[in-house]
Amino acid sequence: MSPRPCFIGIDLGTSTCKTLALDAEGRVVAGASADYPLVTPRPGWAEQDPELWWQATVETMKAVLARLEGWQVQAIGLTGQMHGLVPLDAGDRVIRPAMLWCDQRAAPQCDTITESVGGLNALLALSNNRMLPGFTGGKFLWMAEHEPEAFARMHRFLNPKDYLRLRMTGVHASDVSDASGTGLFDVRRRRWSSELLAAVGLTQTHVPAVFESSEVTGGLSADVAGLWGLPAGLPVVAGGGDAVMQTTSQGVVEPGGIGVTIGTAGIVGGAARNCPDNRGGLVQVSCGNAPDRWHVMGVSLNAGGSFHWLKETLEPLTSGELSFARLAELAGSTPPGAGGLLFLPYLMGERCPDIAADGRGAWVGLTRGHGAGHMARAVMEGVLFNMRAILDLFAEAGLRGQKLRASGGATASRMWLQLLADVTGRPVATVSGASEGGAFGAALLAGVGAGRWRSLDDAVQVVSETDHVEPNSARASLYEAMHPIYKTLYPALQATFGRLALLADRKVP
Ligand code: XUL
Repeated sequence: MSPRPCFIGIDLGTSTCKTLALDAEGRVVAGASADYPLVTPRPGWAEQDPELWWQATVETMKAVLARLEGWQVQAIGLTGQMHGLVPLDAGDRVIRPAMLWCDQRAAPQCDTITESVGGLNALLALSNNRMLPGFTGGKFLWMAEHEPEAFARMHRFLNPKDYLRLRMTGVHASDVSDASGTGLFDVRRRRWSSELLAAVGLTQTHVPAVFESSEVTGGLSADVAGLWGLPAGLPVVAGGGDAVMQTTSQGVVEPGGIGVTIGTAGIVGGAARNCPDNRGGLVQVSCGNAPDRWHVMGVSLNAGGSFHWLKETLEPLTSGELSFARLAELAGSTPPGAGGLLFLPYLMGERCPDIAADGRGAWVGLTRGHGAGHMARAVMEGVLFNMRAILDLFAEAGLRGQKLRASGGATASRMWLQLLADVTGRPVATVSGASEGGAFGAALLAGVGAGRWRSLDDAVQVVSETDHVEPNSARASLYEAMHPIYKTLYPALQATFGRLALLADRKVP
């Protein structure tokens, strides 16, 4: 029997590299993952050693390939954490550890860039995005100011997943969606902005060539092919940034659909056929994973992570281990609306719907009648009120899709799914493959690059809806009434958070 074709997707996450192989019908035939540490040398800094990414990639590739007897790998697709900076010298050696998307050190440099190009509107005209603190752009200026010698040695830069490509193929290349997340890319015209590159001291020679997501960027080098037992020259497609790819994995590539991911962070993503103007820079607009598509997203830094925080906080107070299921059960035993209790989940500051680096969390409306269950329910509802606020921004940007396709860790829980439907007042579907995250979309793009599917639209036909949840009308109407009140929390508390932050740093013996 001749070997059956398969396609590999590699997702270089913030803590885990996940690799999988899909068959020609889009079914997962093998998967493996490997972890690496996140280093925080100072509060607000987040770094990783790219060598560890490569080791995790090799380990997961070997594990997956060991299970592919009788299969023939036809192409590899890449996705990974966006906005990271991997600086390379003239010999392609990594100059310093990669600075990651969650590294906040360059916030002042982002303001400098915005001012240097003439203010927010001028910046939006160039890139269609704000220069957010996690974006790559500010990190270059930070390097130039704080590590001038290293900056001067930087010959080229790559985003995290593109460093894997370099190791696999020897090629310096990226894709349009990941390039969008640098903040230096002209998203409307799908090319680097010379003006923005100049604003951070770079030229076109410093940046990788950009490709559409399904285009082949190069072939496996003989060395790596030998290491993995694959043919030299095996195509590696461009792929995409993980937050964009997450929506692609949900099969949401056409205008009208909306994808919601509730992982540690929360992502609301949708597709557009014309690049929408990012008014006020309140959302993130990227090039999409199909050549004629754009991707609009709102990324909340506080979704499942808030519930995780609550579990970790309460755990020492309980006799045994507190599971997520037990905490959700406790929340479920209290009434919708948590007896008039609201929770603002800005535990990590926030990026969307509010740009709130100074944001903090808060329960508002506590009475002696409230217990741990009410507080847990308020956390879940607060996370979803926040997602609903992002959906409101989407509607303002003209993305008015009704039905939500949901994925991410939390959506394995029926209670979270029902609550998502009730709080947003929209029907919610879970989808096959999406639970695999970005690696699934990356493998589909590898299939497009290898000619298995004619286009991404064709490829995502393999994605099917697996479960449907309708909003309960009585609960939806309660949440409809509570949402405008939720939206007043951050504006009402913003000044308080700022004043508290000043005191929090004061050292008192
Ligand atoms: C997207 C974002 C994160 C990272 C890490 O804008 O910041 O999703 O890509 O996964």
